[in-house]
Amino acid sequence: MSDRVAHPGLAARRMDADAAAALVRPGMTVGMSGFTGAGYPKGVPLELAARITAAHERGDAFRLRVLTGASTAPELDGALARAGGIDFRLPYQSDPELRERINRGEIEYMDIHLGHVAQYAWSGFLGKLDMAIIEATAILPDGRLLPSTSVGNNKTWLDLADQVIVEVNHRQPMGLDGMHDIYYGTALPPHRRPIPLQKPGDRIGEPYLRVDPAKVVAVVHTDAPDRIGRFSPPDEVSRRIAGHLVEFFRHEIKAGRLSERLLPLQSGVGNIANAVLAGLREGGFHGLTAFTEVIQDGMLDLLGDGTIDMASATSFSLSPEGVEEFVRHIDRYRERIVLRPQEMSNHGELIRRLGVIAMNGMVEADLYGNVNSTHVAGSRIINGIGGSGDFARNGFLSCFVTPSTAKGGAISAIVPMVSHVDHTEHDVAVVVTEQGLADLRGLSPKQRARAIIANCAHPDYRPLLQDYFDRACRDSHGKHTPHLLPEALAWHQRFLDTGSMRGG
Ligand code: COA
Repeated sequence: MSDRVAHPGLAARRMDADAAAALVRPGMTVGMSGFTGAGYPKGVPLELAARITAAHERGDAFRLRVLTGASTAPELDGALARAGGIDFRLPYQSDPELRERINRGEIEYMDIHLGHVAQYAWSGFLGKLDMAIIEATAILPDGRLLPSTSVGNNKTWLDLADQVIVEVNHRQPMGLDGMHDIYYGTALPPHRRPIPLQKPGDRIGEPYLRVDPAKVVAVVHTDAPDRIGRFSPPDEVSRRIAGHLVEFFRHEIKAGRLSERLLPLQSGVGNIANAVLAGLREGGFHGLTAFTEVIQDGMLDLLGDGTIDMASATSFSLSPEGVEEFVRHIDRYRERIVLRPQEMSNHGELIRRLGVIAMNGMVEADLYGNVNSTHVAGSRIINGIGGSGDFARNGFLSCFVTPSTAKGGAISAIVPMVSHVDHTEHDVAVVVTEQGLADLRGLSPKQRARAIIANCAHPDYRPLLQDYFDRACRDSHGKHTPHLLPEALAWHQRFLDTGSMRGG
């Protein structure tokens, strides 16, 4: 029995990754752990991909429905996609190989709010779950699992799957023990009860994941790190975006709408989000809290220096340096971090009640404040909506940030009409680019357009947007949300035709 598997019956089910992968049959629906590159199974999916490749070489069909918490890593999404083994995937991805195949139309991808996945699964909308493959840090004497660096949908997959493979990853620190809060009080309507969480740091559940040991068909031992890329240091554009947001928060404090401690923060993933967090520290804030999805390097820094006292999330997403820092001071971080299932971290009712300040990246916004977070030119998906909708729709303040241009200025992030809608004008309060910030609260569509053109558009595109808006105000069929329909998406078409929204 290994020191990490204290349940004798489960210790006896030890298997190597290849033997465990052989238990996964073609056509199965498999729920895997993993969220933003953390806590995904690192052994079985690679062996599974090899088996799928071998089956295809023999001319046998072998495709799976793969459900996760969010994005995973090349060893899971990349390997299975490259093997041609994914038929259907949800809910969020960021792997280049998987993305390419989705955009080639080879894989059906359901881009769903991360906070909704569990209730979809429980309601049966995702079909029967045949297998769960879950990374854990250890197995307790009673068979419960000490979770690893993400919780995601693991509770749901463990509860619903017919069979379970547990990967015990010896690389994950045992110091994670006590950091998780798994709440077992959720239910489907009409049996729901209020969730007794009142502050981001509240613990309302238990630190371990339950699993029926009789369902566990294999325990695989691994020893591999989570794989997350390094963040680039904040550049001038992200620093300016962060500066505008911090100035806005100061303004809100002066107006009496926010206190010095602001409200619980949610920050998306990516380089700009990291820069915004750094901007908060430089802005002199401290004693803040976070009710967010992911703890990335920027958040860890703020937890380390007291800018943030307490953070609730469902996952880590740390660079190798971030992991080192985390492990070195894990006892301190355990006091300040709670990891929850994503149905809790992204729960609409909690986000609304706590009054979260949501800050997320976007691809583009239009004149009226509709936001596209996911698609290039309306049809090519980048990653997915992730938790941005959970937070934007329910947050106290929904802020979206982006550089005002992309691809060296060939693309304007402010367009006449978004080519895909993830967040409607009704859910977007603040739009920020390096040019400035548009506070859309309390404004009509035409007032919003004027604010966005004046404050957020890049000077190269501002006159074009102003011209479109002026002509739309004059010629539009209706004058409430003026549009020139034949031109509304012409900028995107011009980009596809010429490589630049400006043409030529
Ligand atoms: N048109 C075309 N491509 C665009 C674009 C636009 N308007 N805006 C951004 N992009 C491209 C960038 O060029 C870059 O591509 P590259 O890697 O080939 O250079 C890529 O999208 C990422 O953009 P970047 O400027 O580096 O910003 P980011 O890392 O902050 O990512 C999103 C921006 C929108 C892709 C990212 O925030 C996202 O996936 N959001 C949806 C999920 C989400 O919000 N999750 C948070 C909830 S917790």
